[in-house]
Amino acid sequence: MNLMAGKLFDDAELAWIRDQFYYVDRDFEGTRRLFFDNAGGSLRLKAAEEAFHRVDRIPDCSEHSNKIALYLDAIERQGRRDLMECVFGARSGVLYPSYTASQIMMEVCRVLSANARGTNVVTTALEHPSSYDGMKYYAQVHNREFRVADVNKKSGGVDAETVIGLIDKNTAMLSCMYASNISGYIYDIETIFRRAREINPDIFIICDAVQHAPHASLDPEKYGIDAMNFAPYKFFGVRGFSVAYLSDRAASFMHHRLLGKPADDWSIGSPAPAHYAAISEIVSYVIGLGKTQLPSETDRRKLFVAGMDRIAEHERALLAVALEGTERVPGLRHMPGVHVAMDGADLGIRDFIIGVEFEGLSCVDAVKEYEKRGVIAFERSADSIYSKRMVEAFDSKGVVRLSPLHVNSVAEMEEFLRVTQEIAAL
Ligand SMILES: Cc1ncc(COP(=O)(O)O)c(C=O)c1O
Repeated sequence: MNLMAGKLFDDAELAWIRDQFYYVDRDFEGTRRLFFDNAGGSLRLKAAEEAFHRVDRIPDCSEHSNKIALYLDAIERQGRRDLMECVFGARSGVLYPSYTASQIMMEVCRVLSANARGTNVVTTALEHPSSYDGMKYYAQVHNREFRVADVNKKSGGVDAETVIGLIDKNTAMLSCMYASNISGYIYDIETIFRRAREINPDIFIICDAVQHAPHASLDPEKYGIDAMNFAPYKFFGVRGFSVAYLSDRAASFMHHRLLGKPADDWSIGSPAPAHYAAISEIVSYVIGLGKTQLPSETDRRKLFVAGMDRIAEHERALLAVALEGTERVPGLRHMPGVHVAMDGADLGIRDFIIGVEFEGLSCVDAVKEYEKRGVIAFERSADSIYSKRMVEAFDSKGVVRLSPLHVNSVAEMEEFLRVTQEIAAL
């Protein structure tokens, strides 16, 4: 095991962490299992779920004048502060809440495309269809060349130089995700976005942070991003809500809104304060993890960043266990019949996602074999519109995607490795 990769929570803290989530090692029917499909929708934080239900059962209407309506307004205000100050670490810009991250992305593509200037747009081969298709569709609408940066088959990602090589002074827009939801590769957005602005200072920059948000802190202002979205249901939270940060410039463009509201207001219709209550609990949980590291710190953003750093460190240590194994069980990289796809060597630029292929077993069948043995995984198959472009870029027909979470332990990774050995021997 590579001890340089990451840092595990100690046993007592991990036990506490596990207790904060529902269904960590049993499904809702009580059957023991390992849930390794968090990239599809993560384990839920109990406090977020409870806050959601506590607030959602209140019938009073936000924006009305009675006492409880005002209480609901205050919950939303706090949730918005937590999102802006802690999750996005932003001092300017606005929030754009919606139902799904995909809806946000499509709308952002629409609005920014209508206001951008230039003859081409750039994106990357690993983008989720919501941004890839949104960029492509509006490139057609505005008669712009659609340029796609190809993958690096070794790293499991897209090299900064490849993206930058496609950008010129006529590039109207760049959409580049923060991390891949197939390989876990973390893009070098700092270099990509800085160079993009040097080439065309007016370029619009979109960043899909849905995959990365549960594994690290975000900083859209630092990187000059115009729109960055994430989905709370993949970040310990509740389904049916997504949110984006928009730069002041992006927020000011004409968009669907009630015309009596401020020009930079992107919320349409009745607010849903229960979702903001859930967000505040997620932020408090992460801040709590930061506080054990920085007990005298009071700045909530710094504590949030410290908490996310600890999550990333624990996950990186578990990723090293999965790949390299322990003295008790070999890692995926050393297991006959198993191939780790998109297996970049630098664990420092990988979120906690692993893609595995089996000799003589399709990813769909392998996922079924995992489930029989109590491991929930997901097939990223070339038959799915959500995976085809990405897995084919790596010359694969499909991979089993395993996406554990920071709640998992070394013992669980070993259990998963034993199950994988069994499947490889079928
Ligand atoms: C990287 C990435 N972007 C966007 C999305 C879309 O999120 P939603 O289902 O909220 O539209 C997903 C969902 O899997 C994703 O993984």
